[in-house]
Amino acid sequence: MKTPLFITFEGGEGTGKTTQLTLLAKRLERLGRDVLLTREPGGTPLGIEIRRHLVASTIDPPVPLAELFLYAADRAQHVERVIKPALAAGNVVLCDRYADATVAYQCYGRGLNRELIDELNGIATGGLWPVRTLLIDLDHSEGVNRSLAREASSEEAESRFEEEETAFHERVNEGYRALMKKEGERFRLVDGYGTVEEVASRVWEALKDLFGETK
Ligand code: TMP
Repeated sequence: MKTPLFITFEGGEGTGKTTQLTLLAKRLERLGRDVLLTREPGGTPLGIEIRRHLVASTIDPPVPLAELFLYAADRAQHVERVIKPALAAGNVVLCDRYADATVAYQCYGRGLNRELIDELNGIATGGLWPVRTLLIDLDHSEGVNRSLAREASSEEAESRFEEEETAFHERVNEGYRALMKKEGERFRLVDGYGTVEEVASRVWEALKDLFGETK
C-alpha cells in the first residue's frame, strides 16, 4: 500500500483553490496515486445539508456560535466517515478547507474565543491534522470579485461570506497569516496570481517532495 497523505488547501474567497485541487488530483492520478478530493463544509451527505445553512444568504443566518458548531459538526462527520477511511485505504486525501478555516473565519473573522475554537477543532478532528497545508495567497478584493462573478453564473446561492464587509476578509487573511507564522512547518504560501497553469506549477513545487518527485 502507498503512503497515505492528508493535504489541505486554504485561503480567502475566490483564490482558485477548487480549480487547483482538481488539477492536482489529476496530476497525482497520472503518477499512479489513488486520490480522494473532498471539501469542508459539505464532504458528506449530512455535510451538504449543513453547508446550505452555512453559506446561503437566508432570513435567519446562524449566529456566530451556531455557525461554529455547524462547522464542527460537518467536520466530525467528514473526518469519521470520509477522511479516515480514505487514509486507511492508502489514498492521498486532498481537502478544500479544514480546521484552519475555523480559526481564520470564526476566530479572526467573527471574533469568537480562540481557546474554544482550538478545543472544538481538537474534538471534531480527533487529532487528525494534514501533513501539509497550502495557503493560496490573493488580495481579498480580487478574490471576492472572482467569487461573486462565479456566483452570478451559478444556480447555487452561496454568497453569505462574500457579502461580508472588507474588514472581515482582512481579518480572515490576517488569521491565516498568523497561523502560518505559528505553524510554519506545515504551511506553504502559494502566490495565487497569474494563469491557472502558473499557479498549478507553484502548487506542485510546494508539494512534490511529499511524492518523492524532483520535477
Ligand atoms: P468554500 O466556498 O471555500 O467552499 O467555503 C465556504 C465558506 O465557508 C467560505 O466562505 C469559508 C467558510 N468557512 C468557515 O467560515 N469556517 C470553516 O471552518 C470552513 C471550513 C469554511
